[in-house]
Amino acid sequence: MAINGVKGFNDILPGEVEKWQHIEATARRVFELYGLSEIRIPILESTELFSRSIGDATDIVEKEMYSFVDKGGNKVTMRPEGTASVMRAFIEHKIHAKDPVARLYYLGPMFRYERPQKGRYRQFHQIGAELTGVAAPTVDAHVLTMLTQFFAELGLAEPSLQINSLGCPACRPVYREALKGFLLGRIELLCEDCVRRYETNPLRALDCKSPGCQEATKGAPSMLDYLCTDCSDHFAKTRNFLDLAGTGYSINERMVRGLDYYTRTTFEMVTGLLGSQSAVAAGGRYDGLISELGGPQLPGIGFAIGVERVALLLAEKDFSRRPELFIATMGEKAHAEAFRLMVELQRRGLSVELDYEGKSLKSQMRRADKFKSRFTLIIGEDELGRGTAPLKDMDGGTQVEVALDAALILKQVKG
Ligand code: HAM
Repeated sequence: MAINGVKGFNDILPGEVEKWQHIEATARRVFELYGLSEIRIPILESTELFSRSIGDATDIVEKEMYSFVDKGGNKVTMRPEGTASVMRAFIEHKIHAKDPVARLYYLGPMFRYERPQKGRYRQFHQIGAELTGVAAPTVDAHVLTMLTQFFAELGLAEPSLQINSLGCPACRPVYREALKGFLLGRIELLCEDCVRRYETNPLRALDCKSPGCQEATKGAPSMLDYLCTDCSDHFAKTRNFLDLAGTGYSINERMVRGLDYYTRTTFEMVTGLLGSQSAVAAGGRYDGLISELGGPQLPGIGFAIGVERVALLLAEKDFSRRPELFIATMGEKAHAEAFRLMVELQRRGLSVELDYEGKSLKSQMRRADKFKSRFTLIIGEDELGRGTAPLKDMDGGTQVEVALDAALILKQVKG
């Protein structure tokens, strides 16, 4: 019996992979314009890294991690996200000693044991960015502007940016108590999960999808009304800088993130096109995380984009590659000449296709059609004798006679 892939773990096949390459290339280009450098982090980390940073009372750590004990007896986890790993590397390699302001991005697979559905998988891919060492709200606005530019450069009108502030260790506990007080009288409406997290993580009820929780949290107090002066000032300034940058956003006071390390600004890029998997990218500030992980007291901010979800939004667009030239041949000698021309043209940077076996002209032309090549060159005995062959522009429909010389063919094709 054939062996299939593991549920929630996908293959990205040719045809689809070109879209992924386009998404990745766009991210690299935009992020590097904003001064970020790539960092490559491992897939496996100590389990403790995630329980300490993401938080023990989060869904991710409670029930979604791929954790196991390795052959040396170490408790390890396949990373469910990238922020903790990047900060671990930042501290471990003392990147901060050289410059506390690090601007890093990463690409790669993440692993969460979630219930797979459209837009939600067990192995999924993120493109993430993390910026350390700056507490000023200019960096919040700049990061959000960069993220918005990434989506604009992909030609996507959706998703749109929503922002919120989750306050800091000074003001959030006050809000938590106020929210708990509000929910206490409505606790029977809350779903089982939210009742369980009432003590440890009551804010989750605000963005819980269950109808009871939505009913229970109607009219709940807003974090924004509980921000301390510093957090309130930070939020107002972030909004001012977003306006200065011309970066559009709306405020979503009910946005709570599923990871514990956030402080102050949090945000999501949301779409209505992917059903319940509405967040295409998400992130926020984490001013306490670096010190929590044993590093210096430095602030940080970042986000991660869900590549599968971006690819779904780009579903209609065709990114398949077309070769620039297809060479069709008649006869063995012509086929050998075409082979010589093909490799010479490829060495010179032209993408060329040739039927390896030199089948019938009809079947070769069918392949040329399938490849949607931009130009076709047809070589037979006569053309070999003349030393020239017809080069057809498949888009324009025009045809020119060209010498069987790689440099001259290249000139014609490149224009
Ligand atoms: P997150 O909200 O857990 O944040 O994930 C970020 C994005 O990854 C989501 O908005 C979504 O697009 C995508 N994503 C998450 N889980 C899945 C899944 N199971 N299948 C498909 N896509 C998924 C973080 O991971 C934070 N590390 C972001 C961050 C960086 N915050 C600060 N810096």
